[in-house]
Amino acid sequence: MSDLAARLRALPAFPEDMPDLDLEQLPADPTELFLSWLEDAIDSGARQPHAMTFQTVMADGAPVGRTLILKDLDEHGFHVSTRNTSRKAHQLEGNPRAAMTFFWRESGRQVQITGVVHALGEDVSQADWLTRPTSDGTPNPEWQVYALQPTWIEFTQSRHDRNHKRVGYLFEDGRWHHGQVTTPAG
Ligand SMILES: Cc1cc2nc3c(=O)[nH]c(=O)nc-3n(C[C@H](O)[C@H](O)[C@H](O)COP(=O)(O)O)c2cc1C
Repeated sequence: MSDLAARLRALPAFPEDMPDLDLEQLPADPTELFLSWLEDAIDSGARQPHAMTFQTVMADGAPVGRTLILKDLDEHGFHVSTRNTSRKAHQLEGNPRAAMTFFWRESGRQVQITGVVHALGEDVSQADWLTRPTSDGTPNPEWQVYALQPTWIEFTQSRHDRNHKRVGYLFEDGRWHHGQVTTPAG
């Protein structure tokens, strides 16, 4: 084993005092659970609790991810904002399917979200642009808010003993269905 491999394996992973995920008390709507985990992350004082990896698909079918900030969550889905001239915007034009991965290391929580992305209206996009700290009050026609409408969401609560608890939600026939995920978590 290389020195790097040995050092990586020696790094601490999950502490003993992690929150629990009560599989008997799950809400029917996964956005409720998402919002409670986001609130916990905000309350923890961790930097950028609203940051996530946003994955799109390139023209050749290869996935690509980058960090974005969550801007809102409403009936249209999970909002992000970016330039409509960016690579990710072009990738979304070619293939609107995308994914988000949130990781809150302090609580050992991960949320994976898959869905379809829609561009929201000019009014929403400009309102977002104008609230940026660097805004000088001038509108930016390149600025665009997108919403990812989720079809699948998986929550992972990691545990010290590596028996991570996972629950998956699938949107089918007009409603959410959920169940414990029991495939090996690693
Ligand atoms: C913490 C963090 C937050 C970021 N938030 C955003 C964001 O909300 N919108 C955005 O367009 N880029 C954001 N970026 C930059 C993107 O990660 C990315 O570099 C940029 O949008 C270009 O991506 P693309 O070339 O794949 O389109 C953020 C980067 C970091 C490190």
